[in-house]
Amino acid sequence: MPNVRDILNTMDYGPAPEGDAPVRQWLAAHKDGFRHYIGGAFVAGATTFEVFNPARGEVLAKVADGTAADIDAAVRAARAAFPAWAALNGHERAKYLYALARQVQKRERFLSVLETLDNGKPIRETRDIDIPLVARHFYHHAGWAELIADEFPGHVPLGVCGQIIPWNFPLLMLAWKIAPALAAGNTIVLKPAEYTPLTALAFAEICHEIGLPAGVVNIVTGAGDTGAALVEHKDVNKIAFTGSTEVGRLIRKATAGSGKKLSLELGGKSPFIVFEDADIDGAVEGVVDAIWFNQGQVCCAGSRVLVQEGIRERFLGKLRRRMNKLRVGDPLDKAIDMGAIVDPVQLARITQLVSQGVAEGGTLWQAECALPKVGSFYPPSVFIDAEPAQTVAEVEIFGPVAVVMSFRTPDEAVSLANHTRYGLAASVWSENIDRALDVASKLKAGVVWVNSTNLFDAGAAFGGYRESGFGREGGREGMLEYLAPAAMKGALSSAVAAKPVVVPGDGVLPAGIDRTAKLYIGGKQARPDSGYSYNILGTNGALIGQAGLGSRKDIRNAVEAATKASGWSGASGHNRAQVLYYMAENLSARRAEFAARLISMGASEAQASGEVEQTLRRMFYYAATADKFDGRVHATKSRHLTIALNEPFGVLGVICPETSPLLALVSLVMPAIAMGNRVVVVPSTQGALLATDLYQIFDTSDLPGGVVNIVTGVADELAKTLAEHDDVAALWYAGAAGGLAVVERASAGNLKPVWPVPALDWAAVQGQGVTFLRQATQIKTIWVPYGE
Ligand code: NAI
Repeated sequence: MPNVRDILNTMDYGPAPEGDAPVRQWLAAHKDGFRHYIGGAFVAGATTFEVFNPARGEVLAKVADGTAADIDAAVRAARAAFPAWAALNGHERAKYLYALARQVQKRERFLSVLETLDNGKPIRETRDIDIPLVARHFYHHAGWAELIADEFPGHVPLGVCGQIIPWNFPLLMLAWKIAPALAAGNTIVLKPAEYTPLTALAFAEICHEIGLPAGVVNIVTGAGDTGAALVEHKDVNKIAFTGSTEVGRLIRKATAGSGKKLSLELGGKSPFIVFEDADIDGAVEGVVDAIWFNQGQVCCAGSRVLVQEGIRERFLGKLRRRMNKLRVGDPLDKAIDMGAIVDPVQLARITQLVSQGVAEGGTLWQAECALPKVGSFYPPSVFIDAEPAQTVAEVEIFGPVAVVMSFRTPDEAVSLANHTRYGLAASVWSENIDRALDVASKLKAGVVWVNSTNLFDAGAAFGGYRESGFGREGGREGMLEYLAPAAMKGALSSAVAAKPVVVPGDGVLPAGIDRTAKLYIGGKQARPDSGYSYNILGTNGALIGQAGLGSRKDIRNAVEAATKASGWSGASGHNRAQVLYYMAENLSARRAEFAARLISMGASEAQASGEVEQTLRRMFYYAATADKFDGRVHATKSRHLTIALNEPFGVLGVICPETSPLLALVSLVMPAIAMGNRVVVVPSTQGALLATDLYQIFDTSDLPGGVVNIVTGVADELAKTLAEHDDVAALWYAGAAGGLAVVERASAGNLKPVWPVPALDWAAVQGQGVTFLRQATQIKTIWVPYGE
């Protein structure tokens, strides 16, 4: 035992353990095994599995191992509870959410200790970050429940939501999932991660205590198979998943065509960019929070540290000194920086990836800290001077291991930062606000922290770009993941065009019939690569024209043209609006021609002129929105601007329905381009000539080449190619369930979001509106702290 003089000389920390007696008592009371929480009752499982404390290697509890039958019972309970829960007014639901928040807050100490025992993360983090954020989440969403009728008019809950969460922030991920779902009026079956189910089971007890109606929240414990049973259950309306990209892909495929709404929050390899003019000490402390917070087991961990060359030496020197001061050990000790890795399996994975990094020639630094003799611990580590193509620079290690690379110019920093399949988060460190915001705007990431890192709040959206998944959690945007506009909750379109008759070349057209329409790619008319066309028939069966039979090659050319037209995404809303207004003006001048085409396809005169009129109005409507569907500044932490920007996806694929061929195409293309996307459109197979008639409107309206590309042909075949294409960032599919299944399965490659466009009355008010604009954008949240 050191004496006071020794302590003053060394300034060493003494042990400062947090007491765990109340949690141990609670665990002892459940020593026969924890049960599922189904339909308001605690239900024993047929078998159990053991849950460990990773810091000591000891068994903490036995937990029920959920079967498909348990999942089925839970889904039935949730379904039975749904009508009454959804029918409660917002205020009634708010009272339950408020009660949950209060109970979490009252038990903050208990839940913090339990989380630390189960997960291995330091008590400092569970006490100061995880559990307070859980309470904040329930309070915030009590507010959304209260305001739901005002803030989300015309929206309805989805039904039964299946929620699958990971082990890195067990109770916080539960809160992120359960709070918005409940506020919106859904009922829930949640499956916690198998390594860390205990705080979810404590939460089940809280639900019980506050008298949450039976079946509104159901918790079924188990591993991957239990999760898969939930994903596959026929009576689930939405799956929300956080976890690995690999499992996210499996879930995308498993839910394809099922009509289940999906949100995925997956992995990352987030850049942490330090410019020469950064506050270097602040940035070094930022690295500590970015990669050693929660032992680096954080989906948005700043695991790629990019440092500008001029400060490389100084930065690395400071970083190394700081690393060597980090304390790794008993997570219940309040003076510990890093606790245990969640499980020996994860520890082995980290160790293997680091060995691979060394074998590939990486230079590894590890903190010179003592590690406990028992338990799963790993030291803070960095690979310096890593190459972008090295495994450790590309793969998500999900442990306390960063790579450091250097760059010369801001452009190089951006290109290195975006050199990843992922797009979850990024940090930018510079005292020059112009530079920091310029870089933030160029990063392909859902969250960007300026001079900060790993900031979270219930009022701000969190979620990824690209292979980090889609959908947002938190705030207004997160609520929308659990709601649907009532007018759009309907079925998919079921009209599928009959297989067209294919003819070679331009075919032989009867006298008086139009020439064959070509494709429209990069602002030019293009012959289809196949060298074939197909017949387009009027409603009376007569041949009215031919359209090019587009193929995979044409889609690839169109995507390439759209990719090149990136200037459109950077144009101001005002400039885009001008082009859309100009299109309307040019269409107006040619109303008669478009009406005649509709009549030739079987429409009456009144119907034809009505559809053209509606089309014009829609162009005006979306021109009007181009500079008005803007972002927000959220109220989160004090002295932070939390900016939510609506960014375009980039290249967006649009598969049009067979109905209202002109109006539906314009109703889909206009919001997409108004928001700055470039589109590849597959028009209705039988209505293709209306799309091709639009080329001249585009050509005469200053629309830059490549912003709208049109490939005619068999819609479902072309849709699959678009879904598979890695440069297509999002896809809207209006078609039947069979085609949707193919498209959604094929989208698993780059995990592009697919919007199944419901069957709509395109002439009615439901055919336009903010829902289309939301589908055309993804939220980027930029955090900017301020103050000296
Ligand atoms: P995981 O993705 O397998 O587990 C996450 C959750 O999904 C758990 O509840 C698990 O039981 C469930 N699950 C597993 N297979 C499933 C299936 N086929 N259908 C439905 N649910 C399923 O992650 P795991 O194995 O725990 O960790 C492996 C790697 O995943 C980590 O090393 C890390 O790279 C990444 N990961 C990323 C997370 C993130 O927040 N982005 C969180 C956890 C892991």
